[in-house]
Amino acid sequence: MDTHAGSGDYKLNSGEAQKNKEFLDGIGNLWQREDLPACMADYVYLIKQVYYSEQLLRYPGSALIVRQLLDNQDRLFLYELHTAESRLLNDVVKKDKRIKVFRADGLKDSLGLLPPRENRGLILIDPTYEIKNEYQAVAGSLKEMHKRFATGCYCLWYPVVARKRNQTMERALQTSGIKNIQLFELGIQADSDGFGMTASGMIVFNPPWTLLADMQQVLPWLAETLGENQQGFYRIEQLVGE
Ligand SMILES: C[S@@+](CC[C@H](N)C(=O)[O-])C[C@H]1O[C@@H](n2cnc3c(N)ncnc32)[C@H](O)[C@@H]1O
Repeated sequence: MDTHAGSGDYKLNSGEAQKNKEFLDGIGNLWQREDLPACMADYVYLIKQVYYSEQLLRYPGSALIVRQLLDNQDRLFLYELHTAESRLLNDVVKKDKRIKVFRADGLKDSLGLLPPRENRGLILIDPTYEIKNEYQAVAGSLKEMHKRFATGCYCLWYPVVARKRNQTMERALQTSGIKNIQLFELGIQADSDGFGMTASGMIVFNPPWTLLADMQQVLPWLAETLGENQQGFYRIEQLVGE
């Protein structure tokens, strides 16, 4: 389940992508390298597979990345609140019978699908964090989801724009009663009070047991490779133990 699915497919020659060409410092820097750590090589290979292309012209959103990994019996539920994005998303995935798109609030409406009948599931939560209190609101939603489906694997993405907001969210999760929470963060600049995102991370609930070792391999490498002016850093923390 992807609670904030976006439009699925991003053209890198669009006006939006060309404005500050952010992709050049991220995927653009990794695309042709031959010294990638194993799981980064898997990731770059996966992105190339989505478009059957060696050229970096488009980048897949979470929905297309997950679609690439689905087995025949898997189901994927995509929530996108906004009409234009949800139409584009629908166009991209509509021929795939395993996938359902809902133009709805992914934090509220998805509760109705929990727990899934398979009793296994991965839930990606990738909000915009446009409003300050979204950090706390998201922690509250996670608590509700977890009440219904405690064994699911939840991945909550977050930006670091003002560190205090992240600390508030982390504390809310640490005192939520939910167990087995790990945090993985990559910073490309030191924290700042200025404008813009300097780091981002993923908080994972019930992580797969191999994830920690993969992140221990890849995050130091990414911090050094993508960090600007030697300011790259990473965090790997067990927010709550098992
Ligand atoms: C950060 S983007 C998601 C990007 C997407 N996960 C990807 O990898 O392409 C956040 C998206 O969530 C949508 N959105 C905002 N609030 C939402 C909500 N409550 N429920 C569902 N979608 C929402 C926005 O329109 C936006 O497309």
